[in-house]
Amino acid sequence: MTSDERKNRIAKAFSSRAGVYDVAADVQWLVASRLAERVEGSTLPAVRRVLEIGCGTGFLSARLDGAFPDAELVLTDIAPSMLERCRARVGNRPRYLVLDGERPRGLDEQFDLIVSSLAFQWFVDLRGGLRELSGLLAPGGRMMFATLGKKTFLEWREAHRALGLVCGTPQYPGGEDFPWPSAFEHRIDEELVRQPYADGHDFVKSLKALGASEPAPGYQPLTPGAFRRLLASLDGGFAATYHVLFGEILA
Ligand SMILES: C[S@@+](CC[C@H](N)C(=O)[O-])C[C@H]1O[C@@H](n2cnc3c(N)ncnc32)[C@H](O)[C@@H]1O
Repeated sequence: MTSDERKNRIAKAFSSRAGVYDVAADVQWLVASRLAERVEGSTLPAVRRVLEIGCGTGFLSARLDGAFPDAELVLTDIAPSMLERCRARVGNRPRYLVLDGERPRGLDEQFDLIVSSLAFQWFVDLRGGLRELSGLLAPGGRMMFATLGKKTFLEWREAHRALGLVCGTPQYPGGEDFPWPSAFEHRIDEELVRQPYADGHDFVKSLKALGASEPAPGYQPLTPGAFRRLLASLDGGFAATYHVLFGEILA
């Protein structure tokens, strides 16, 4: 599968779940709130223009709209139906754009603040995408984001390993090997969020409800028998770890 085909599948999956995303998105809401607090609490120079990548249904966008009432807001997502939901939440003041955040074409202006909550983990080339986005920062501007780190779903990965199965969860970087773009200062904080699930089935169902179901590139799905054994091994409930990286890039 080419990277464009993968992106189309990701965009389609999120678009198809846009109407029910909010109900399943407890962790996403929590992470967007934490990132919003960081943005609101940071000493930013004058913010005239804000760009959000992967705005989804607008958990973070709504907070940005409140925090920067005089700034121009550009809210973007690769999935058109997510943008529609975002507009329904935030209203018509911002500009809405269907955009692949890894290839931010058609944005001529520079931004004082670029933000993104839990979208960068879907990038095919995180290093290249961050380089492109950093190039859109105005002098003195800042990128503030949350993305997933390498300990994410370690219990799910471990359940696969215990049965000798290959796990379809993509590989994410850690704080120590994060692919920062060169020539920019950066900072990172990490947090482990644990989300309880009734069982493995409940976990898989909730990822599907979010539209977050595209596995790592090249992954071959488990046979029905192997999948049943996997779910049986998680019967009785478990808490899944979300390893959240809060990063900043300073221009
Ligand atoms: C887990 S959701 C997070 C949405 C929102 N930021 C939130 O906190 O609820 C991931 C979002 O990233 C978007 N996305 C995935 N790949 C993207 C890309 N390459 N460029 C822009 N958005 C992307 C998806 O369409 C989806 O809306």
